[in-house]
Parts: sequence; structure tokens; C-alpha cells
Amino acid sequence: MTKHHVAVLASGKGSNLQALIDAVRAGELPIEIVSVISDRPGAEALERARAAGIPGRLVLLSDRRNPDIRRAFEVELLETLARLDLDLIVLAGWMLILSADFLTRVGCPLLNLHPALLAPEGDIPILRGAHAVRDALALSLPFTGVSIHYVTPEVDAGPVVLSEVVPIIPGECEESLYDRIKTVEHRLLPRAVGAVLGTLPVGGVHA
Ligand code: GRF
Repeated sequence: MTKHHVAVLASGKGSNLQALIDAVRAGELPIEIVSVISDRPGAEALERARAAGIPGRLVLLSDRRNPDIRRAFEVELLETLARLDLDLIVLAGWMLILSADFLTRVGCPLLNLHPALLAPEGDIPILRGAHAVRDALALSLPFTGVSIHYVTPEVDAGPVVLSEVVPIIPGECEESLYDRIKTVEHRLLPRAVGAVLGTLPVGGVHA
């Protein structure tokens, strides 16, 4: 059986990448992680890829504020991804915003993980951006959560595929809350990838 081709883009630790690798190894997720791409030379995610025998690739952005350099970076990333015949790209701790043009040209869906609820009920605020865990504590919210969503040009705003509430223990520190959030992420991510790919035909859209 042909397996869906998935690439993981990760800037950091890669614990969610590891959750996908473990789910594939356990036979719980019939996909092939064909590449792990990072923008950070020392990213632990690349080390995890190497240990799992998955090709890793570094695509460097030398100056994130220079629009020409940023465009060239996205072109290199698009060319790298186009060779992989992808069904899905997972942003697992990828710390760079991808442009609307990139998202139009990439040719397959992208999923992102966000450590907060993007469609919360009641009067809980939506916490977007890189400090969502800290913000949940600063606002003394009773709970926060995990969202796995499609990537759209508006950051942390695409349709949610799976989410789960994570209660906040009064007085807990950011590290403790983030540890518990990550435990939920590791459980949800393989499920979200499986759910999304169950609805897609095998074979990427690239020639
Ligand atoms: C995750 O918590 C995710 O929500 C956020 O980045 C983190 C990546 O963690 N977008 P890791 O590198 O997978 O450990």
C-alpha cells in the first residue's frame, strides 16, 4: 500500500515530531515521514530525524527582516518540498510565518500545532502568537488547551481539526503548564494527521 508522504517542519526540540515518529513505529499511523526540515542549525528535531533514519534538511533564513532574503528562503523551501511529492506538511514548532504566496504555491495542506484554544467557548479569549502559554497564566484563565489547525495566511486562525482543553492548576508555573500541554499535543497530533489524511487521496499534487 502506498503511504501518504508527510514532511515535518520544526525549528526546535521536536518532541511533537517524535510523537509522530513513535506513532508510525507503533503501526498507529500509516504514513511515511519523508523529510524533516528545519531553519535552525542546532535544532534537536534534526537530531531526532537522524536517529529515526529520516532525511533531515536545513533551510537557512539569514535575515528574517529583509523581504528579498525572506522571499528567496521561501523559494528554496518550496523547491525542497516540491521534490517530496507530499500529501501533508506538519508545522511542529516551526517558528517562521509563511506568506500567503507560499501557502498558495505549496500545493498540499499544512497543519499547525498551537498551545492554546483557537475556538474557545464562552468568554475565554483567543490566545494567538508565540507566548500563548505565558499569556494564559498572565490572564489567570481557568483553562487553556491545544489546537491543531489548518494553516491559512492569517496566523493561528485556520480551521481547527482537533482541540482539547487543558485545565490550569492555580499557582502553577509556565514550565509545568507547558509540559502538560505538550503531553496532550503528543497524543492529539498523530490523531489529527490520521484524520486529515483519511480524507485525502494518496499522492501529492506535485509533478
Ligand atoms: C509546541 O508546543 C507547539 O504548540 C508550538 O511549538 C511547540 C513545539 O514543541 N507551536 P516541540 O518542538 O515539538 O517540542
